[in-house]
Amino acid sequence: METSRFGGTPKGGIKRLTLSDEDKRVRDWFKEQCAKLGCTVQVDEVGNMFATRPGKRKDLMPIAMGSHLDTQPTGGKFDGVLGVLGGLEAMRTLVDMGYETNAPIMLVNWTNEEGSRFAPAMLCSGVYAGVFTTDFAYSREDRLGITLGDELQRIGYKGDIKAGEVKFQAMFELHIEQGPILEAENKTIGVVTGVQGMRWYEVTVTGQESHTGATPMGLRKNALLAAARMIDAIHEVGMCNLPGVASVGLIENRPNSRNVVPGEVFFTVDLRHPDEAVLDKMESQYRAALPRIASDLSVRFEEKRIWISPAVKFAPELISCVRVGAEQAGYPARDMASGAGHDAAYIARVAPTTMIFVPCLGGISHNESESTTLEECGAGTQVLLNAVLAHDRSLA
Ligand code: GLV
Ligand code: MN
Ligand code: MN
Repeated sequence: METSRFGGTPKGGIKRLTLSDEDKRVRDWFKEQCAKLGCTVQVDEVGNMFATRPGKRKDLMPIAMGSHLDTQPTGGKFDGVLGVLGGLEAMRTLVDMGYETNAPIMLVNWTNEEGSRFAPAMLCSGVYAGVFTTDFAYSREDRLGITLGDELQRIGYKGDIKAGEVKFQAMFELHIEQGPILEAENKTIGVVTGVQGMRWYEVTVTGQESHTGATPMGLRKNALLAAARMIDAIHEVGMCNLPGVASVGLIENRPNSRNVVPGEVFFTVDLRHPDEAVLDKMESQYRAALPRIASDLSVRFEEKRIWISPAVKFAPELISCVRVGAEQAGYPARDMASGAGHDAAYIARVAPTTMIFVPCLGGISHNESESTTLEECGAGTQVLLNAVLAHDRSLA
């Protein structure tokens, strides 16, 4: 509630796009809170922030907790934010109790998880994990052509530390479920076993601008009509491959004037499925639909895949720590896979990683009305702390 003032919207959500002024303000706040706890705060070259509290032993790498503070343009108060602020609360608890862990404990804020302003999603945890180069991240442009590198510089969060250099031995990410299962089954904790595969594409359809009054229906090259039919076909790809999902979320129609037949449309495609083989099939079905529609309507199109994030399985030893943590605290839990992408999916490539989910009201997320109760946030935070300490004890 306190940090929602950084980008808070009248409808009760947050608009805190990556590296905006609001993102800078929440980062400054976060840095100050961590410093107050006596943590050392480091920032790497892509703006990832790491706050560390020392442990008893110098030979152990830190145990990390982390998520993201950026949001969708009409985001809620919990997506990502809970994982960082829950981690902060866990850190405060350790400090208040004077509890000395074996390993150092680290709290991470990953840059640009959402991928809404700068595609793709999970970008800077991806740089950390060696999936993308730093220069690739710097070169990402928003829809106005502003680059991530320039924005990092502008808000003062381009650190000197090489991405990937601040090491940890394991990471736990607390997050809201963003789906309806926990609520429907009256479970408080989701023990997350993995993340489904995701692929993003961009399509530009080119027709011909012409006068809406004077161009006969049969002679039009209407890019928007073609895009509409393509979007319908993409929806069908999802419907035919359940539990797969296929979505078009961003569309730009040009020139977007009521009496001009649209000459150009840009849109994005998001395909997801837990099984890579089915995802391959979905990709072929989607790709087969476009030329057919374009040729029927005499338009051209360009299509490219801009991102692949393969399905991920989390680390069994960390999943056990989460189960133990939920049991210790007495919360009903169930295993589940994540439909949403998370920084944990990339971090899992370089360190044992897992996630903890708590319910959100009606399963609604990426929405300003996103809501999770104080008790549920508390439960997730307790299980996060329990899981971190269970892992820490195993190092003794
Ligand atoms: C991130 O929120 C994603 O799953 O796209
Ligand atoms: Mn998130
Ligand atoms: Mn999100």
